[in-house]
Amino acid sequence: MYICIGLNFQDLMVRQGAVDSPPKCPFILGFECAGEIEQIGEGVEGFAIGDKVVALPEYRAWAELVAVPAKYVYKCPDELGPLDAAAITMNYTVAYILLFELAGLSKGKSLLVHSVGGGVGQAIVQLARTVPDVVVFGVCSKAKHEALKANNSPIDHLLERGSDYSSEIRKVQPDGVDIVLDCLCGEECNRGYSLLKPMGKYILYGSSNVVTGETKSFFSAARSWWQVDKVSPIKLFEENRTLSGFNLRRLMYQQDGSDFVRKAVENVFALYKEGKIKPVLDSTWALEDVAEAMQKMHDRKNIGKIILDPSLEPKPKPATPAKGKSKEDKKKQSSEEKKDSEEKKEDEKKEEKKEEEKKEEPATNGDSAGDSDSKGKENSS
Ligand SMILES: NC(=O)c1ccc[n+]([C@@H]2O[C@H](COP(=O)([O-])OP(=O)(O)OC[C@H]3O[C@@H](n4cnc5c(N)ncnc54)[C@H](OP(=O)(O)O)[C@@H]3O)[C@@H](O)[C@H]2O)c1
Repeated sequence: MYICIGLNFQDLMVRQGAVDSPPKCPFILGFECAGEIEQIGEGVEGFAIGDKVVALPEYRAWAELVAVPAKYVYKCPDELGPLDAAAITMNYTVAYILLFELAGLSKGKSLLVHSVGGGVGQAIVQLARTVPDVVVFGVCSKAKHEALKANNSPIDHLLERGSDYSSEIRKVQPDGVDIVLDCLCGEECNRGYSLLKPMGKYILYGSSNVVTGETKSFFSAARSWWQVDKVSPIKLFEENRTLSGFNLRRLMYQQDGSDFVRKAVENVFALYKEGKIKPVLDSTWALEDVAEAMQKMHDRKNIGKIILDPSLEPKPKPATPAKGKSKEDKKKQSSEEKKDSEEKKEDEKKEEKKEEEKKEEPATNGDSAGDSDSKGKENSS
């Protein structure tokens, strides 16, 4: 079955209430899914029923059937299976736009990437490697370093999240870096900007630092905002630096940028077909296990992309102990048990009555089977 769904940090941010104007509850989460076309809307051209496609809808992707405007749907090349389709489309398209449309990555440039072990982070690293002599500095949680090294992830300098990574970078390149790709925001904006060489480019494309504990925090959102230094265009002019930002969601759904995004998706698919990129998959989960999959991302444990596959069976869950049941459940259970035992008693009584009736009947009745046998024999003779 050609169906898979991509889990993105954006889903986590929506769940935490850390995005602008989320839809009213209840709604279906999800911004990325691969599948086959079941039905086509009136007037839609270029697609046929049964086409294998991947889509970037505005919500509702975590489902077995998804209605998506055609402008957010992309035909998958034959080489692209559903797992890789759901793993590359969002992450590599974002990474492609950041590196080649905004940062203008070229030979010999140096690059700082935050959350380098995640879905977009790994996509950035792979795409950067398609350009010769690029130097990649990658920051992520220390717990991921060993696994990334073991996977031969092509990061030149792995740095620890929360450390003084700026000093580490300056030890290698005293002048700083050419490009900073920041998905964290808050104080990382200032550090990133300070690390830029003349002609360097800083791009903000996320605000993961806004996600703190298990619930929405106005405080962390406000702190993230206030921690960012306000840079005047005059300062940029004098320092020969560029600041920019990128938000795929806004571009596609609010700024009519779907044609621009389609071109980037096509370029990503072409690189996939040439074998230049291959998504790093962290894990695949049944749709029913999405809470666990999300928790893994929230706990900063994923390396690469997390995928939901509706064709998978959910993991067996431990049986809920009786003492953990609610009063309602217990009441319902005991009334059901009572009903069962009453029915059982009724059945037993009926059986006893039948047995007694049998005993009271004349002995000839008990040979009825013999009778029918003899009848049968008669008929056959
Ligand atoms: N602008 C756009 O259009 C666009 C589109 C897609 C994604 N993005 C952004 O790109 C970034 C990566 O997205 P992704 O979907 O590939 O996810 P991801 O990197 O796979 O997300 C999980 C990782 O994020 C890091 N992280 C940073 N702050 C965190 C926090 N407060 N709580 C939990 N984890 C945190 C953790 O890695 P470490 O601990 O190793 O840092 C974690 O393992 C996100 O900021 C996302 O919003 C932007």
